[in-house]
Amino acid sequence: MKLNYVHHVGLICSDLDRSIYFYHDILGFQFQNEPTGWFEGPELAKGVGVPNAKLRQVSLWVDDTTTFELIEYSPRADTTGKPVANNHLGAAHVCFEVDDIHATKAELESHGVVFNSDVNVVDEGPLAGWRWCYFTDPDGLALELIQWDYYKKEEREAAVAEYLKNRPPLSAFKPLFNK
Ligand SMILES: [Fe+2]
Repeated sequence: MKLNYVHHVGLICSDLDRSIYFYHDILGFQFQNEPTGWFEGPELAKGVGVPNAKLRQVSLWVDDTTTFELIEYSPRADTTGKPVANNHLGAAHVCFEVDDIHATKAELESHGVVFNSDVNVVDEGPLAGWRWCYFTDPDGLALELIQWDYYKKEEREAAVAEYLKNRPPLSAFKPLFNK
């Protein structure tokens, strides 16, 4: 099997027009398509697995191949209005690679963007070379910046081979898929 590339990452937002001010105007993503009107109907509901689904979306280019899909559902699932914590099943985050993480962080902060922490520096272990920090979009959804300073390819390949040799057997995970 060969899956070609990540076509898009989809995030559910509370207000499409508000999120466009962040992802387009601040982060700088260009439109692949303008915001759609509201989609609804039994085929959509079946397709997305949400009864009575009604949604609109916009696609924004991140780079030459990948887009960000922002989706606003009406109504959204009944929640507290806050995003789930990062350790919830299904919680997601999207990470953008940058040349200068400190400069990008400072620029975003000048727009009022809130970061969880200072830049974390990792120089040992499997993630050696990572400089990373989380921030949040207007809904509080998790995003991340990474400056990938270096990659110890041979060390990683050896460690991956070691992992594959010693991992728990597939039989430990039967059934592999929940019903
Ligand atoms: Fe990440």
